[in-house]
Amino acid sequence: MGNNMDISRPQILQLPKIHDPRGNLTFVEGEGTVPFEIKRAYWIYDVPAAAERGGHSHHAMSQLLVAVGGSFNVNVCDGLDWRSFTLNRPFEGLFIPPGFWRTLDNFSSGAVCLSLVSTRYDEADYVRDFEEFKRLAKANPRRL
Ligand code: TYD
Repeated sequence: MGNNMDISRPQILQLPKIHDPRGNLTFVEGEGTVPFEIKRAYWIYDVPAAAERGGHSHHAMSQLLVAVGGSFNVNVCDGLDWRSFTLNRPFEGLFIPPGFWRTLDNFSSGAVCLSLVSTRYDEADYVRDFEEFKRLAKANPRRL
């Protein structure tokens, strides 16, 4: 993690990669690898090709998404603009701070999305209504 990282913006982080002829290894450890303390991990798998996941923002939760297998797109919105990231490398993670809407789509067969997040599960932290999200984003602008 670069020390001058702007943690207010979604961005791809390069994770440590240990090259090995027996197979490569990537890890995250403490706050040296990701800019938040990891409180929870979950993973999404068996996603049908046409399905879309996500469709929400968060009041407080920060997140790192990793394609530990296969590929998918993460589409991030700041209330005005959208930006799409393709995740297809197990040694890259997409960092998403609070306050950004995200959808995940275009999952390849066998794709696995690992998510490392900064909070325990709390439905009250979700904003699941896009119009409400846009109102919140207008009141508290964040930029991609
Ligand atoms: P959700 O976060 O909406 O999924 P997506 O990854 O597509 O954004 O979660 C889907 C359902 O799973 C929802 O009913 C809440 C439940 N859930 C938990 O119980 N614990 C968790 O840690 C997560 C991420 C979801």
